[in-house]
Amino acid sequence: MLFSYPRQIQLPDGSMLPFINLDNAASTQSLDIVTQKTAEFLSCYASVHRGSGFLSRLSTRAFEEARRRLLYFVGASFELDTAIFVKNTTEAINKLANRLNLQPDDVVIISEMEHHSNDLPWRKKARVVKARVDISGALDLDDLCSKIRKHAARLKLVSITGASNVTGYINDLRTIARLAHTYGAPLLVDAAQLAPHRRIHMMPHGHPEHLDFIVFSGHKMYAPFGSGVLIGPRQFFQAGDPDYSGGGTVRSVTNDSVIWAPPPEKEEAGSPNVVGAVAMGIAAEVLSQTGMRQVMLHEQGLLDTLLVRLRRIPNLTLYGSAFADPTRLGVVAFNIQGLHHFLAARALAGEAGISVRNGCFCAHPYVHRLLNMSPPDIDHYANLAGQGKLAAVPGMVRISIGLYNNVNDIEKAAAAIAELAKDPQHYAEKYRYTEPFSELATDPRRFFKI
Ligand SMILES: Cc1ncc(COP(=O)(O)O)c(C=O)c1O
Repeated sequence: MLFSYPRQIQLPDGSMLPFINLDNAASTQSLDIVTQKTAEFLSCYASVHRGSGFLSRLSTRAFEEARRRLLYFVGASFELDTAIFVKNTTEAINKLANRLNLQPDDVVIISEMEHHSNDLPWRKKARVVKARVDISGALDLDDLCSKIRKHAARLKLVSITGASNVTGYINDLRTIARLAHTYGAPLLVDAAQLAPHRRIHMMPHGHPEHLDFIVFSGHKMYAPFGSGVLIGPRQFFQAGDPDYSGGGTVRSVTNDSVIWAPPPEKEEAGSPNVVGAVAMGIAAEVLSQTGMRQVMLHEQGLLDTLLVRLRRIPNLTLYGSAFADPTRLGVVAFNIQGLHHFLAARALAGEAGISVRNGCFCAHPYVHRLLNMSPPDIDHYANLAGQGKLAAVPGMVRISIGLYNNVNDIEKAAAAIAELAKDPQHYAEKYRYTEPFSELATDPRRFFKI
């Protein structure tokens, strides 16, 4: 058993359906083994670092072991790199944006396929230049190269996603690292999507393909306990002041001076989320022991089955590549003609117990591009969204595969989508006014005592 959440869900008419989670790019459930081991740790939990009691020392060792496991998980250097615990990928990127000491004329190069979390934090700090994506949404490496060359003089960072949360495209990080380093810029990899699905190796410091900084979240890698991580050179964090200061960040404080603690403590202001960090370390260990190649092969098989089925549905549009191959994750965005993405997602939940996501997936500019929207259309819908009229806004439906999915989940999802596509008008009318689940069915007290 990989996990044990409520396996059956109840529809408003009282009937029961097995629950299938195909929304793993948003967040994954905790694997049973992660839950179990985290609960074991909880029974030993105490404050970390400065306590001299038995449990404090035990917890401190578990916390530091989690750091080492995450460094190992991405092939970072124990000696030269540090792993800083944060809440999630978003906080990790904001932290780096705060710590880079950027000036308004400095340039940060990202791409058109980024999640807002790897776009908005840079806009506040520097000039953001975006490398283009091609018509299918894949990163245009020639354009990235020419932009890196053009802005080399003021280029402070290249920050690129490891894999898209919309099309699943995996970027060629080795080539991107070479390009960035040729022009003297460090590379940040947003590995929120990549880390749970592929082996990542940061490569040795000084190697042209070295990944300088990497960020990812526990909740997307089967450890939803509120922790994320920013990994980067220890020396970088040694310099300058931390973005947040307070307890835990210092060696000494007088009324008019501060001596910062060395990283990572310096960067982890306040009491850390020890349980989240330990859970993330456990999840990394479970993934490593499963073998990232096994994870990939399992997900690729399911992706292939899904795409074979979806390609047969005539009134269904797939975005990005319509074929499975190792250069993409099991993330599939689509639309059914005649059925709004929001209603399609509701209908999948209500008709088949399947969880998917719909909308623009916090990657609005990328989704606009994939939908081939004109600038006036983009402005029009941005205005509507600004007025809170979100239901009118174009978007997509997204299926994303996780380690615990099986071929049965995929066959059921494909059959349910085919069913919706046969009579989109019927499902549009039904779900425009129908909530897939009753208040009672989703009452948490039915599943756990609070
Ligand atoms: C590619 C990518 N980057 C960043 C994030 C932000 O992650 P978090 O919400 O854990 O901060 C996400 C979340 O969906 C993502 O898919």
